[in-house]
Amino acid sequence: MSRMTVEQLRQDLPMTAEVGYFQTGTYGPASDSVLQAVRETMETEARHGPATPAGRQSHIEREAAARSGLARMLNVQEEELGIETNTSRAMQQIVRGLDWQEGDEFVMTSLEHVSTYGLSYSLKQLHGVKTIVLGEVYDEHLLGDLASVLTDRTRLICLSHIASPNGRLLPCKQAAAIAHDAGVPVMLDLAQSVGQMPVDLKELDCDFAVGSGHKWLLGPMGTGYTYISQKQLPNFHPNFIPDRSPWSLPDAPTPAPTARSRTEIGTYNHALVVGLGRAVEIAESIGLDTMQERITQLSGRLRQGVGHIDRARIITPQEPGKSAGITSLMFDGFTKTDMDGLVEKMHQRHQTVVKSQWLTAPPDPVKVAMRISVAAFNDESEVDRLLEGLDEEL
Ligand SMILES: Cc1ncc(COP(=O)(O)O)c(C=O)c1O
Repeated sequence: MSRMTVEQLRQDLPMTAEVGYFQTGTYGPASDSVLQAVRETMETEARHGPATPAGRQSHIEREAAARSGLARMLNVQEEELGIETNTSRAMQQIVRGLDWQEGDEFVMTSLEHVSTYGLSYSLKQLHGVKTIVLGEVYDEHLLGDLASVLTDRTRLICLSHIASPNGRLLPCKQAAAIAHDAGVPVMLDLAQSVGQMPVDLKELDCDFAVGSGHKWLLGPMGTGYTYISQKQLPNFHPNFIPDRSPWSLPDAPTPAPTARSRTEIGTYNHALVVGLGRAVEIAESIGLDTMQERITQLSGRLRQGVGHIDRARIITPQEPGKSAGITSLMFDGFTKTDMDGLVEKMHQRHQTVVKSQWLTAPPDPVKVAMRISVAAFNDESEVDRLLEGLDEEL
């Protein structure tokens, strides 16, 4: 694909003519090109019959290209990737695939997504697993605390690459080194990082990873992926049994373990995978470096502007390399109802879409923030309109 510019991406997202959209951390918009890829695939399947050669032809090659494109973008082997519908399901596939015993320990940070908390409660109920939550998320404390909580019962460490509530970029590579020294595998939650910056999983040296296509990657809703490293694949026994797995046909020759044969179950929507592949192509053709630079520049403009708003406090770390496109704000004296009202006014009066977000983690547990996701398709005029709107409403 020839190189695409951010301006062309904006044109491919008609929504940008209507609103300043700062909710990509929840749902990213799928571009017209992505929708076209999905539509074409579904139409060809339906028109020719999905199981006919012509119907199948519509997706086989493009789906294979999508899978290898995603693998290339994450710098992993294709065999290490499985397609899923979202991060939460992908995470369940991994975590439930481990051989938990009563008294085992699961380590996570206090900044994990609510779905990870839910999973940790179920591990306790199902297997008697103890969860240890690392509450001090400043890098040096996090790493020190991580080293001190690891025991011979620790079975898995789960870290968000970028934390959902406040956009903090966690020191995943350093955490993996500490974990591996103790012989413990690491699972990364990539929901908030992939698609807004280059992410190299070999460099991060994780054992497992999960992510969504429908956030920063701007893929179709209901797409995600599971990464299982070659090192972990032979010992990985899924909880749900995929139809290509050795457990489905015990007497058949055992296929080589791949993430696909260990996590993908039954029929899935080929068109969505093709759409995800198109989203990856677009991200690569603009360049993830270019997107990251633009996001940094726009986020800098936003944060500087917020500095002039008296009631607003930025709770996202602002040192270089400690955050990316998410900026979370708190406003003095604001309740959840106040924040919901402000978010509504920002939409109605200022054509600006932001999120009212519970903070489930330190430094402000059970408090509410405004989460602003600045994506590469946003522009300066949208950031300025957001700032003017806040200034006027506060
Ligand atoms: C860090 C993180 N993990 C997981 C999720 C859940 O993603 P999904 O809805 O794709 O399951 C989110 C959603 O916002 C998230 O921010």
